[in-house]
Amino acid sequence: MALVPFDDRDGWIWMDGAFVPWRDAKLHVLSHGLHYASGVFEGERAYSGNIFRLADHTARLIESGRILGFEIPYSAEVISAACNEALVKNGLTDAYIRPIAWRGTEQLAVSAQLTKIHLAIAVWAWPNLFGADRMKGVRLGHAKWRRPAPDTAPTASKAAGLYMIGTLSKHIAEEEGFTDALMLDYKGDVAEATGANIFFVFNGEIHTPTPTCFLDGITRRTVMALARKRQMTVVERVIGADEIANASEVFLAGTAAEVTPVRCIGEMQFTPGKITETLIADYDALVRMSPAEVAKLAA
Ligand SMILES: Cc1ncc(COP(=O)(O)O)c(C=O)c1O
Repeated sequence: MALVPFDDRDGWIWMDGAFVPWRDAKLHVLSHGLHYASGVFEGERAYSGNIFRLADHTARLIESGRILGFEIPYSAEVISAACNEALVKNGLTDAYIRPIAWRGTEQLAVSAQLTKIHLAIAVWAWPNLFGADRMKGVRLGHAKWRRPAPDTAPTASKAAGLYMIGTLSKHIAEEEGFTDALMLDYKGDVAEATGANIFFVFNGEIHTPTPTCFLDGITRRTVMALARKRQMTVVERVIGADEIANASEVFLAGTAAEVTPVRCIGEMQFTPGKITETLIADYDALVRMSPAEVAKLAA
């Protein structure tokens, strides 16, 4: 299948306060964000015209920038409104939304205090890709890279630089025939996949690693709230790599992955089961509700 490059598409991109034709949304090669990874982004999904948990994504974007030492020069209200406008302007209802903020060209060195902060928001069609195949589950390999300690990298930020080890891990997993990779943390405990959080079912209870050195996903928190609403027991704790084999079900949760069963982790096989199936259905129903309904589920 021929790839359609992301810079050669029709549509509009919101950039620094105004819409520009898609192909004109350019920046200079001497941008600090490109050289020093001084960028933060979000990944959002719209279902039937509503961006799921938009306010939470916007708040995380602003906070991600602050963790990297910069202030995005737009209010949360302006950013959220721009996400919605970008969706409408591109004539989309079921879509992926990618806001990204980065340091500009004023300085190109480690110190970058005087750089201007830019913000762009792009939107592209993203219909549900899984359908009936979802319950087959994905296959995870073991990542060779680990999530760094919170005093080694700004791990609470959705910072572009943190994705370097994700891409490396995912490429190796793909070469080995897997869909994605399970990453451990710097201590050797279970962390997450390269772009989604992970959950295990042990003795009928749902367990997920405490997000001390990786993203506390918005989907993760939503899934925990959905499970508790069904009186399921949800436990956040340190999960050792040697415990994985005892899980009866394993699944991923993330904006892109939604709730996706895991069929194997390396040699260990899992059968997607009832708990995963229930949470997939609950999540699928929730994302299609109005923002007011979604807000009722405290996550
Ligand atoms: C590394 C990583 N972890 C977890 C997540 C899940 O986060 P969320 O549910 O907020 O999309 C993502 C996706 O954004 C991610 O990239």
